[in-house]
Amino acid sequence: MRFHTLTTLLLVPTLSSALHIWPRQSSGCPSVWTDVAKELQSDFAGCNADAHGAIRAPFHDCINNGCDGSLILTDECSHSENAGLSGICSKLKDWTTKYNVGAADMIQFAAATAISACPLGPKVQALVGRKDSSVAAPVGSVPSSKDPVDTILAAFSAKGFSAGDLVALLGTHSVALQFFDDPSQAGKSLDTTPDVYDMTFYKETKAGTAPYSLQSDSLMSNDTQTSHSWDQFANDANAWTRVFTDAWNRFSVVGNDVGSLRDCSSLIPTSSVSRRRQAANARFVAKMSAKFRS
Ligand code: HEM
Ligand SMILES: *[C@@H]1O[C@H](CO)[C@@H](O)[C@H](O)[C@H]1NC(C)=O
Repeated sequence: MRFHTLTTLLLVPTLSSALHIWPRQSSGCPSVWTDVAKELQSDFAGCNADAHGAIRAPFHDCINNGCDGSLILTDECSHSENAGLSGICSKLKDWTTKYNVGAADMIQFAAATAISACPLGPKVQALVGRKDSSVAAPVGSVPSSKDPVDTILAAFSAKGFSAGDLVALLGTHSVALQFFDDPSQAGKSLDTTPDVYDMTFYKETKAGTAPYSLQSDSLMSNDTQTSHSWDQFANDANAWTRVFTDAWNRFSVVGNDVGSLRDCSSLIPTSSVSRRRQAANARFVAKMSAKFRS
């Protein structure tokens, strides 16, 4: 059983997503995004703090007023619910100006690039052409880690996301540190492997063995509405990849007309798992399978 879990985990980067939202217009990706891709890939190398922030930013841009760039086009980023994002907000804003592209698109393109910079991170779509807005979302319009499960589920449901979708999206907390949830424990990660996009976050949150757990994550790991998905993803990386990719692709276009968007997904690298790591994994699998055959 352990061996099976391990094998499926290692296979994840080779899978392509089963579900896609194809823009109706298959017009080409504006060439400026090639330059953006180059700069972002170098900035996010190693699944570093910028990559973590870039993966978090879409949640804060999209969950309230839709993915409209207001997170960085207004003072939204300085709202207390967005604490911890100021560094990545200013970088995203600078890149938006430098390349003269949409802010909402920059947030999503950066997140897709950042996910691919994290080992085992799935490949998600990168569409461009969203409508920007310079109207800030109301203060407090992002669910908080201190909210009850029902409140959080309702916020996602209002945007068309099921409990299973939400639990899959929370897999992003596999590449996460906290600084402001409990400042006295600033710098603690939400699982023991914050630079690898793996399933240990689900396991450790449920078991209470993560260096730090958000109250909301702990509650969802054990709530009857969410625990089934939680347990499934903890033990099945393929199932997680499928649900996450589908949920992410839909989340990245909340409030936008998908039919008017263009597809820049070809600029997002597939996995960033290094050759050396893959070779090490292959040796480990061979060793384990020899052991389990006997
Ligand atoms: C139930 C909803 C969610 C709640 C309550 C929540 C809450 C939080 C909190 C409190 C932090 C720590 C921030 C800090 O103190 O520095 C955090 C980090 C993070 N969150 Fe969430 N989150 C939620 C959903 C999401 C979603 C949907 C995404 C992805 C789109 C996401 C991605 C991240 C990432 C990547 C980090 C790490 C940031 C870093 O290390 O700099 N979260 N989240
Ligand atoms: C998990 O939920 C059950 C009821 O659904 C409850 O009895 C139990 O105390 C909870 N465990 C934790 C660690 O909260």
